[in-house]
Amino acid sequence: MPSRQFGVMAALPINANRRRMEDKCPVLVTGGAGYIGSHAVLALRDAGWPVAVIDNLVTGFRFAVPEDIAFYEGDIADQALLTRIIAEQKIGAVMHFAGSVVVPESVENPLEYYHNNTAKSRDLIEAVVKAGVRHMIFSSTAATYGTPDVSPVSEDTPRHPINPYGWSKLMTEQMLADTAAAHDLNYCTLRYFNVAGSDPQGRSGQSTAGATHLIKVAVEAALGKRDSVGIFGTDYDTPDGTGVRDYIHVSDLAAAHVLALEALIAQPDRSLTMNCGYGRGFSVMEVLDAVDRVTNRKITRVKAPRRAGDPDSLISDPSRIKTTLPWQPQHADLDAIVAHALAWERKLGEMSGNT
Ligand code: UFG
Repeated sequence: MPSRQFGVMAALPINANRRRMEDKCPVLVTGGAGYIGSHAVLALRDAGWPVAVIDNLVTGFRFAVPEDIAFYEGDIADQALLTRIIAEQKIGAVMHFAGSVVVPESVENPLEYYHNNTAKSRDLIEAVVKAGVRHMIFSSTAATYGTPDVSPVSEDTPRHPINPYGWSKLMTEQMLADTAAAHDLNYCTLRYFNVAGSDPQGRSGQSTAGATHLIKVAVEAALGKRDSVGIFGTDYDTPDGTGVRDYIHVSDLAAAHVLALEALIAQPDRSLTMNCGYGRGFSVMEVLDAVDRVTNRKITRVKAPRRAGDPDSLISDPSRIKTTLPWQPQHADLDAIVAHALAWERKLGEMSGNT
């Protein structure tokens, strides 16, 4: 049945709510050993969903996936493997996180990004449709908006990516929409704003070496893993001149995925596209102040030139996700996001023997 795109879903009848709680199909998480994927695995598992993971471990970590989760090391473009996993695990839904996520890398090597993010997603979607899996959740990005001249940014803001990373994700959004219109599939595209923090129970976090994201960089500096933090531009059109972003805690983001899955199953003829952010922004200075507060230290700040392609401010309009899902963020406090990022950074240090 073709799927329709709705911004706001009608309230679910009570018996539909009950039915969906009993109907927890096994979920395949692609990229489940990565930063956001591993948190989604934990959120699904905590909520009682059977989970399987496929990850090629190019940027993911085996330790990020709990031992009791079925784990397949492999590529999402390997259709034979996917077909086997879907049959073996009786997969009823796919959450798709696997892909490459470094914006400057995508500018240097666009074809790699179109391969990893777009071409391989095409193969994955084909395997999903052929195997009769009916629900898919896709990890998209605010980078699909490029540098919007409105703030906050709603889902209807024109998508004008300014780098291959954003395009590679937007193309996949389009493939999903076209496929859902033609086949028995509904999907939810979630466009993430700035994801940060780590699992409050310390089970996962951002483990990537050489990460470029502000909060990760800042907590590394606070723990002496870096000498300083560069402030990329102090002449933006923002209250203190530094870039403003909508930082969302990774566990709140993971929770949104579980709720989106329930919504897809409850209303299988509807697809959704939603921003994932809180609707408020913090400047680079405010983030660094928070890191200083949480660590009770002062990290060294170094003024640096603007980074190419950075918008002044990027803040989500969260109206749609708030009216569509019963999503109640638990960790929106910036200091909590920083504290969790810091706790994971310490744990990584212990794991590698450098406390
Ligand atoms: N920044 C610094 N110093 C640093 C790192 C970042 O000043 O060392 C600044 C940036 O200039 C920006 C803000 O901190 O103003 C946030 O930068 P991040 O690199 O943490 O995140 P981005 O906003 O650049 O990127 C995020 C996602 C991308 C996504 C993009 C959409 O991480 O995946 O938003 O615009 F593509």
